[in-house]
Amino acid sequence: MAQKNYKEAIQDPIFSIIAEAAAEIHVDCFVIGGFVRDFILKRGIPKDIDIVAVGSGIALAERVAEKMANKPKVSVFKNFGTAMLRHGYIELEFVGARKESYHRESRNPIVEDGTLEDDQNRRDFTINAMAISLNKETYAELLDPFNGLADIESKTIRTPLEPGITYSDDPLRMMRAIRFATQLQFSIEENSFASILKNKNRIKIISRERIIDELHKILASAQPSIGLALLHESELLPYILPELSALQGIEEIEGQKHKDNFWHTLEVVDNISRNTENLWLRWAALLHDIGKAPTKKFHKKIGWTFHGHEFVGSKMVFKIFKRLRMPLNEKMKYVQKMVLMSSRPIVLSEDFVTDSAVRRLIFDAGEDIEDLMTLCEADITTKNPKKQRKYHNNFKLVRQKIVEVEERDHVRNFQPPISGEEIMSIFNLKPSKEIGILKDAIKEAILEGEIPNEYDAAHSFMLKKGKEIGL
Ligand code: CTP
Repeated sequence: MAQKNYKEAIQDPIFSIIAEAAAEIHVDCFVIGGFVRDFILKRGIPKDIDIVAVGSGIALAERVAEKMANKPKVSVFKNFGTAMLRHGYIELEFVGARKESYHRESRNPIVEDGTLEDDQNRRDFTINAMAISLNKETYAELLDPFNGLADIESKTIRTPLEPGITYSDDPLRMMRAIRFATQLQFSIEENSFASILKNKNRIKIISRERIIDELHKILASAQPSIGLALLHESELLPYILPELSALQGIEEIEGQKHKDNFWHTLEVVDNISRNTENLWLRWAALLHDIGKAPTKKFHKKIGWTFHGHEFVGSKMVFKIFKRLRMPLNEKMKYVQKMVLMSSRPIVLSEDFVTDSAVRRLIFDAGEDIEDLMTLCEADITTKNPKKQRKYHNNFKLVRQKIVEVEERDHVRNFQPPISGEEIMSIFNLKPSKEIGILKDAIKEAILEGEIPNEYDAAHSFMLKKGKEIGL
């Protein structure tokens, strides 16, 4: 492929400053990696720019900072031989070219000086190994020894070296291959994929944080099923989310089958990804059926059942988050809640919808009612157009009903119309269990539609109820 001029990629004046600084300290330098790849792919404004110096990346970063008008602070990571400084929103990362494995998260001090070619050899994929020169004689030329440009054109993820070497340098790259394949909608070259299958168990040496980082990027993509299917086919998934792998397969007893809940889940995740960017709602879609593997049973009369799978699933969410070192905070609780409630609107959409059932749904889901509806609609994966239309229409009715009931009864952010203090003063009570009983009875009466969610009605109801329990 003819080399064209990549001046357009390096128009920002910061590149001239870097080039001048490099010339002053007599090192060659290049912009490399994701920045070059994303420029060619026209993927928008970069978050970080990687500069490789044939010499000391740290010395180059320091000279660059001196020459910049705002004299930014340089963060130096001596062990890694790297330095970082900020240029507006962009992080500029400087590294010396390496002969040995390139991977910045390694705990071992690395830095064995090498040439640009040595450095390119040790990068993960051909599309990430392209460099643009910032040196006087070759300014703005593309250095692409592994034909990354052709791989971009043919949408291929390929390792620069024999894949076994590239993956053993850093086994996380097996997941990175899948992540890039998902984000860019590229295919992983055959040998490379075969090598992932062969080396899959080496993912065990990678920290869970790095694995989750990649999994999040897969989930945040436009079509996460690409990556999830590749994780399954490469047999990496059982090392990461065995609970999800366990959903794969169809069992048949006495001619009765259940659906394959793994492939169903992938469809649900893709469906929801068309309607939300919320990563945690996407997580909820991914985990909404995980309780189905441990609760699966066959009954002669009714066939396959998964009783209580939502409850079991929501308990599993905690275990999964803990094992994967994900935050055990309100995000996890939100995913648990979504999994626990994931069948509630479905039941409603199948039956005649009563106001009180809708009130209870709004009360239990609270602020998350919209997200829950989004999850349930994504759960419709039937291929039968008639059924599909029917389910979607039913959900429309449920949504309508939610709006009507909420407008009238305001149970979404339910605040008891009568406070505990007031109950105590009316009945001249000290803190006691009777207050809880009365508060609960008022709430139940409102949710059941016996009384409206209003002060006066609740007040009379409370007096009556108080009498009944002998106050
Ligand atoms: N790299 C590598 N092996 C890794 C991680 C990174 O070879 N395990 C190299 C690649 O050349 C990559 C560059 O380091 O392009 C920068 O890594 P990173 O910032 O993680 O990825 P990007 O390619 O910039 O992509 P993204 O920003 O989407 O993560």
